[in-house]
Amino acid sequence: MPDTRLEHVAIAVPELDAAISVYSAVLGRPDSGREVVESEQVRIAFFQLGDSRLELLEPTAEDSPVGRFLEQRGPGLHHIAIEVPDIESALERCRAAGLRTVGDAPRRGAGGRQVAFLHPGSTGGVLLELSEPVR
Ligand code: CO
Repeated sequence: MPDTRLEHVAIAVPELDAAISVYSAVLGRPDSGREVVESEQVRIAFFQLGDSRLELLEPTAEDSPVGRFLEQRGPGLHHIAIEVPDIESALERCRAAGLRTVGDAPRRGAGGRQVAFLHPGSTGGVLLELSEPVR
């Protein structure tokens, strides 16, 4: 049965290699993979953590969502991603509850997943990503 789960926790970092070193030291192993996500203008490194992942996001441009986030708030927790079995129905449910999306939703994210973001101003301060797995 399809279910929701914590898919990943994403952290904005100014320098990917430095951040990879920190988390490699914490976890005692190298990263699990890297990817450039053009739609989000980020380079990603991730660490598999059981059924979830930790994602490190380095902006590929200063004038990008993560670039502006770093400039305004500095490095740190950027968003939490929840896997949902059906992103369209999840979005419908969220909009009906008065939650606002950020930008085009859904769109293609890391790993070819369909993703959508819910605005932190409508979720209580946390940027939430909805993520539908590739079938
Ligand atoms: Co994400």
